[in-house]
Amino acid sequence: MSASESHIDVRSALKQGLAQLREAHIPSFTLAAELLLLHVLGRDRTWLYAHPEEQVSNADAERFFALLARHAAGEPTQHLTGKQEFWGLEFEVTPDVLIPRPETEHVIEVALDRLAVRERRAGRKQTLTGEGLQIADIGTGSGCIAIALAKELPSATIYATDVSPAALTVAKRNGKRHSVSDRIHFLESNLLDQVSVVGAQHAAPPLGNGSSSTPRQSPVTNHQSPLFDLIASNPPYIGRREAATLMREVRDHEPEVALYGGEEGYELYANLITQAAAHLKPGGILVLELGHNSLPAVQPLLDAPAWTNVGVTNDLAGIPRVLAAERT
Ligand SMILES: C[S@@+](CC[C@H](N)C(=O)[O-])C[C@H]1O[C@@H](n2cnc3c(N)ncnc32)[C@H](O)[C@@H]1O
Repeated sequence: MSASESHIDVRSALKQGLAQLREAHIPSFTLAAELLLLHVLGRDRTWLYAHPEEQVSNADAERFFALLARHAAGEPTQHLTGKQEFWGLEFEVTPDVLIPRPETEHVIEVALDRLAVRERRAGRKQTLTGEGLQIADIGTGSGCIAIALAKELPSATIYATDVSPAALTVAKRNGKRHSVSDRIHFLESNLLDQVSVVGAQHAAPPLGNGSSSTPRQSPVTNHQSPLFDLIASNPPYIGRREAATLMREVRDHEPEVALYGGEEGYELYANLITQAAAHLKPGGILVLELGHNSLPAVQPLLDAPAWTNVGVTNDLAGIPRVLAAERT
């Protein structure tokens, strides 16, 4: 299809688009062609199938076929449309962040379930608003976990860390987009390192108030204190030795720092679990997403006496995907 070809209708544009992606051996080519056409036309799927005869302007057709060519060459559709849905919310994505995956929604489900059980055990009312809850999301990327939790728990305070300043810029924009920026502290940090630093600064007595007998309340106090009710993380967990087996779309287009946890993949979990143990309140909950083969290496790290109520949740493909535990 060239710019000079005109008078193409929706049905033919879609037909040509999916043929182009099929020839390029793109997985889910029908869905991808639809998505790109909807993006270009600014329409939804219902409109697309209700208006097959509608003419596509030359400019739109040109944009559509340019995007198809980029997708056929390996760029993820989410980079072409700039968005991905997660937990029913639309997130901006760029090549600086991991594209949120459906399996990560299990992290949110497990976190909310565990918090609800904890509330019931404490005899508190069933509706969980997050009142008084301090939550951390380590390796926030697009911000999808922190923001989904902030939407579900409208009174919770959240710390979202990432080593990537570029990812944090996107996460902050997503926080604004979903009107939760006032409750999420986005921090450039290796794991929770800077949470301690920021906490120590917050904990310092305010100037001119040194004699006050009431210490200033801060959500984060110091490195030694258990601080959080919930720590959630989807860390990088792919092994560099597996890189060759990744889909080209993933390997060539998503940030390495978001993908690889080390040569084997599970290397980051040990530090993460040690830091979580130091930053959780007694009874605080840790929820971790796992790589497809991480469980045997990671589960033994959650041992007694520091951890209890260890549980594994499988994803829809039957892969152990979420590991959760409670700090004793
Ligand atoms: C697998 S991605 C997850 C992103 C997002 N939470 C999600 O679920 O879509 C891992 C994220 O952790 C960040 N990261 C990698 N190493 C880190 C570290 N040592 N401390 C904090 N964040 C880290 C990466 O930059 C990336 O954004």
